[in-house]
Amino acid sequence: EKGGYDHFMIKEIFEQSRSIGDSMRGRLRSEDAHLQLGGLNNYLDKLAEADRIIIVGCGTSWHAGLVAEYLFEELARVNVEVEYASEFRYRNPVISEKDIVIAISQSGETADTLAAIELAKSKGATIFGVCNVVGSSIARATHAGAYTHAGPEIGVASTKAFTAQVTVLTLIAIAMAKRKGTITEETYRQLLIELEHIPEKVAKVFENASKIKEIAFIFTYARNFIYLGRGLNFPVALEGALKLKEISYIHAEGYPAAEMKHGPIALIDEDMPVVFLATRDSSYEKIVSNIQEVKARKGRVIAIVTEGDKLIPGMVDFVIEVPQTHEMLTPLVSVIPLQLLSYYIAVMRGRNVDQPRNLAKSVTVE
Ligand code: M6R
Repeated sequence: EKGGYDHFMIKEIFEQSRSIGDSMRGRLRSEDAHLQLGGLNNYLDKLAEADRIIIVGCGTSWHAGLVAEYLFEELARVNVEVEYASEFRYRNPVISEKDIVIAISQSGETADTLAAIELAKSKGATIFGVCNVVGSSIARATHAGAYTHAGPEIGVASTKAFTAQVTVLTLIAIAMAKRKGTITEETYRQLLIELEHIPEKVAKVFENASKIKEIAFIFTYARNFIYLGRGLNFPVALEGALKLKEISYIHAEGYPAAEMKHGPIALIDEDMPVVFLATRDSSYEKIVSNIQEVKARKGRVIAIVTEGDKLIPGMVDFVIEVPQTHEMLTPLVSVIPLQLLSYYIAVMRGRNVDQPRNLAKSVTVE
């Protein structure tokens, strides 16, 4: 059942060059500019009219929500709030019939997310689900939704479910933007074409697996890690840190790179590995200066860069290349090396990667 792999997690990481395609199958066709999510058909007007979207989820699903915040705001020009389901449900949130709530959950059984849905529903909001498990409690509790079609995810650390969630949320954001007229026809077509190329670009990242393994070997016994990114790569930094914590038990923190000088920079010394998401996008120059700030304090930098980057390799200790894509789609490729890095480090530390201590695949109690 592990298909010849040592663990489900690595099998599921490598499946992403296929599963991302599965999340788009039948929904997107760039040649005739087709984009349709069956489950949302009747709700597109409602989406287009919404003043605000509230996204709820936990853990990795919450990170996918943070990625979606950038996508919806940038493409569909709608105000988005992303909430931890566990916090949302115990506040007295201001919600009305005009609101749309998107609940994200791989398992569809997370107790806090389910409770958040019930609360929003009782206040009249329209609830969409982005779930992986068909027929799950959350899928049934929502008014409409889109399944992620990543296939069963067995490893406790979520990998292919994350990229599937981001893919589906991207499709929703583009469909909404198209309906609202907030993106040009050219950007619309370009995004669809670029989305179709994501599976092969993800496969390209896998070619770096042995290099990532070597880097993992060097940092196997690190006690701490910092992950930094900006823009769409900020949630990716959070996700990279979560992956490392949960399966290797190394303390890791993710931050927006610019927040570093408001505190975390005090942690930097020659023993601190810092993973930078430094792909070529609108934050590139800013990230380069953040890298300089860390190097000036002797931090050990691993940078995720865009293929062909000439500048950063000369500044840092290790680079891992990922293919260039549309800036809005960057997380789908930049998260892959972080999944692999955490996997190899955890394996080298002898951890039970598929079933880390104290964790369950679905958290059905609050
Ligand atoms: O099934 P869900 O997506 O609702 O689960 C949410 C979190 O429990 C989950 O993402 C958790 O953080 C993962 N172990 C992260 O890898």
